[in-house]
Amino acid sequence: MHKGLAAVILAAGKGTRMKSALPKVLHPICGQPMLQYPLQAAKQAGVKQLTVVVGHQAETVKQAFADEQVSWVEQTEQLGTGHALLCAAESLAGFSGTLLLLCGDVPLLQADILKQSLQYHQHEKAVVTVLTAEMQDPTGYGRIVRNQEQVLKIVEEKDATDEQRRISEINTGTYLFDADFVLSALKNLKTNNSQGEYYLTDVVAAAVSAGKKTRGVVIPDATQMMGINDRRQLAEAEAVMRWHVNSELMLSGVSMIDPTTVYVDSTVEVGADTVLHPNVQLRGATKIGSNCTIETGVVVVDSSIADGVHLKAGSAIEESQVGPSCEIGPMAHLRPGNVFSGKNKIGNFVEAKKTLLGEGSKASHLTYLGDTEVGKNVNFGCGTITCNYDGVSKHKTIVDDDVFVGSDVQFIAPVTIGRNSLIGAGSTITKDVPADSLAIARSEQKVIEGWTLRKKSQQS
Ligand code: UD1
Ligand code: MG
Repeated sequence: MHKGLAAVILAAGKGTRMKSALPKVLHPICGQPMLQYPLQAAKQAGVKQLTVVVGHQAETVKQAFADEQVSWVEQTEQLGTGHALLCAAESLAGFSGTLLLLCGDVPLLQADILKQSLQYHQHEKAVVTVLTAEMQDPTGYGRIVRNQEQVLKIVEEKDATDEQRRISEINTGTYLFDADFVLSALKNLKTNNSQGEYYLTDVVAAAVSAGKKTRGVVIPDATQMMGINDRRQLAEAEAVMRWHVNSELMLSGVSMIDPTTVYVDSTVEVGADTVLHPNVQLRGATKIGSNCTIETGVVVVDSSIADGVHLKAGSAIEESQVGPSCEIGPMAHLRPGNVFSGKNKIGNFVEAKKTLLGEGSKASHLTYLGDTEVGKNVNFGCGTITCNYDGVSKHKTIVDDDVFVGSDVQFIAPVTIGRNSLIGAGSTITKDVPADSLAIARSEQKVIEGWTLRKKSQQS
């Protein structure tokens, strides 16, 4: 009878080879910190009791996962992977089922592999099952030394003989253990190896000495088992993950003209029949509806884009809500806090921030809308500027339905424009305008006939 499944994820290491001030497990892959992926995989594989061992910059790592239901254990000195698991022993007190051990730096591993391996481990009644892979280039990994099904030991690259280095079956750093066995075996680990560390991998040889069954299950898709130790591997993993994310989207009905240049975070949702052109980036908590067209060079961050929206080339959108059938860009800049109701048109070189637009309102060219509340069917002429900042505080511009704003108008906020009014081109509006009015605020034109002729005759 299966006595439950717990998991420990090792994430205390410094990640020296990353050469980074950021802890290795916080380096993002498709928008999420690396550690998020093994956490997710463990949960999807049915793990309820999850412990993460942190050490190097422990607080920073914990903070990044503050919302996760996990127990955190600190390994204050990084004395090796064996020592790291030992640090988790207390949090596992009383647990005696199967222990899944994952490394925080193996992000591509999928839950179905874990489920299959768990079945095999339990069927074989082994005390240790190592997830292994055949690597074309096994450099840097621990090598699996076998006698048929029995894994005799794992030898680290740095401790391996030339002959052992030629073994291409490697330790992926993922294991299933009999919890009672491994927690007692860890106590006897020695540091007589080239790195002077407590190697978790040594529990395999310990099990063999104790006459127990050890197994190694070869995971056919070796890329999934890739460990990230440097930034080159980080970029490789990102490329694999990106392809995975893009494949899923394409299979769900999203078109990509060139999927190798589309960068979508694993957190993003995209609806069917949306077309993503080359060099598009969709990041963070972004949701894109169906039937949208997203052209080259568009970057969308933490925004929701409704159905049938056309985002034209080179537009940048952040923390905004864009309603159905809007047309944005080319080269539009939506800064945080915009809510566009739908059928809005935002044209080239328009910047908007904290702007609410009623249905059908437009700003087609060269405009700044900041802290603005706009009703329906308002038209802003070219070069409209809301002067929302007086040097101390921000103020609102409120524009009611059906207002027509001529070109080159400044609104000196706070100011309110009543429904169905017309603002003459070139006006600087400093006072509220009531409904159904015409407001013009510009000096009257003077014409002095013959002036240039007289000027030129003076000069000659
Ligand atoms: C380890 C394995 C190696 C395997 C490889 C797979 C050992 C001795 N070696 O080597 O056989 O092929 O993973 O990727 O286990 N960690 C701690 N505390 C420590 C040391 C490490 O929490 O004191 C964590 C790291 O944060 C990392 C994981 O353990 O997430 C693996 O450590 P790392 O130093 O990357 O080991 P490798 O050299 O890759
Ligand atoms: Mg590693």
